[in-house]
Amino acid sequence: MRATSTLLTLGLALSAFAHPHHELSSRELAQHQTISKRCAAKAGAFTMARKKRSLAKRQAVFPRDTSVNITIESPHYSTIQNDTCVLVPDVTAGPYVWPRSETLRQDMSEDQAGIPLYLDIGVLDVNTCEPASDVLLDLWHCNATGSYSSFEGNDPNTPFEELVASKNLTIGPGLDLHTGDTTWLRGMWPTDGNGVMEMQTVFPGFYVERTIHIHVQAHTSWSVRSNGTIVASNIVSTGQIFFDEELSEQIMALEPYASHTQINRTTNDIDSIYAGEVVGGWNPTMQVEALDGVDVKNGMVGYITLGVNMTATASSGGGAPPGGA
Ligand SMILES: *[C@@H]1O[C@H](CO)[C@@H](O)[C@H](O)[C@H]1NC(C)=O
Ligand SMILES: *[C@@H]1O[C@H](CO)[C@@H](O)[C@H](O)[C@H]1NC(C)=O
Ligand SMILES: *[C@@H]1O[C@H](CO)[C@@H](O)[C@H](O)[C@H]1NC(C)=O
Ligand SMILES: *[C@@H]1O[C@H](CO)[C@@H](O)[C@H](O)[C@H]1NC(C)=O
Ligand SMILES: *[C@@H]1O[C@H](CO)[C@@H](O)[C@H](O)[C@H]1NC(C)=O
Ligand SMILES: *[C@@H]1O[C@H](CO)[C@@H](O)[C@H](O)[C@H]1NC(C)=O
Ligand SMILES: *[C@@H]1O[C@H](CO)[C@@H](O)[C@H](O)[C@H]1NC(C)=O
Repeated sequence: MRATSTLLTLGLALSAFAHPHHELSSRELAQHQTISKRCAAKAGAFTMARKKRSLAKRQAVFPRDTSVNITIESPHYSTIQNDTCVLVPDVTAGPYVWPRSETLRQDMSEDQAGIPLYLDIGVLDVNTCEPASDVLLDLWHCNATGSYSSFEGNDPNTPFEELVASKNLTIGPGLDLHTGDTTWLRGMWPTDGNGVMEMQTVFPGFYVERTIHIHVQAHTSWSVRSNGTIVASNIVSTGQIFFDEELSEQIMALEPYASHTQINRTTNDIDSIYAGEVVGGWNPTMQVEALDGVDVKNGMVGYITLGVNMTATASSGGGAPPGGA
């Protein structure tokens, strides 16, 4: 059902990218808030435990500057709050979802230049507020100058409608803009017994009309081929993860991001997919810490907890391109 809605959304052209396909009713909003409150304490504890483990582990490979202390008990989650975990609102998967190039691995950076980013993503089942294991998280995002792998032939600075028109294509189900089958900055990995998955990548750049974001799809009952792509799955959530403006500004000032001057960057406050996620009461912004405890420019760890409904009846994923058979 969700895949169908997403495809229909795609058919709405730019508005599709400006609005989530499903406007939340006030009843749903209230329900999200309730779930959020109910799971907040567990989400907070969950995140703190992950931060401790993750930092301890990385310290071994990335020596910390011992002249500074890093605050593991993050202020973000030190109190019970209602925005740490709610049902992730479903937003469009966008035109750059490409199951054919998604690969099971924990480092999706390949040869892409950029600031190292280690994603630490926790998944909570909103029905129980307990960590959910074996949920396959499928991630994809653009490179430092706005291009997506498998879509490298498309100019990241051309407005979407114009891009589609230039190819003599029509926006709607079955739209296929791919230009190749490269796989960089696309990767999938399942959550472990603690409901956590980690992925190494680089900080994303931006492309026309969109703020900086990472796409994430959560799959249950999944199976993969020998080359690591999905054969079949149940998609329980399709969302996008964002970054604080201050952080983005800091990173975009560095090369190779800074060389992207052809367009002005769209910011969170004017990106309506961001608005669509925030309206549901979820906090879709990654909490970030410097890898060396000092400077995010040397690399960072990003934490986020996704609340997904594990019993949601959803569609099958994988295999076909968006809008394909
Ligand atoms: C870091 O914290 C430890 C334990 O609280 C303290 O002993 C140490 O002096 C602190 N170091 C710095 C540089 O603040
Ligand atoms: C994986 O195998 C499928 C099915 O043969 C193919 O369509 C896809 O392009 C392959 N993907 C990669 C990354 O090799
Ligand atoms: C991003 O990908 C495009 C398309 O392959 C490439 O031209 C560009 O150099 C890449 N950006 C960076 C910073 O490597
Ligand atoms: C699109 O159609 C026009 C007019 O028929 C043609 O001149 C042009 O070459 C086509 N472009 C592509 C990318 O097929
Ligand atoms: C970016 O925005 C500034 C200020 O509005 C404007 O002067 C400039 O022309 C814009 N640059 C591009 C590449 O659109
Ligand atoms: C959190 O709860 C407060 C008080 O109930 C409410 O005013 C606020 O809008 C909620 N925030 C979110 C993000 O749900
Ligand atoms: C999860 O989805 C099921 C099936 O659609 C629904 O009955 C249940 O209320 C949902 N749970 C939450 C917490 O929204």
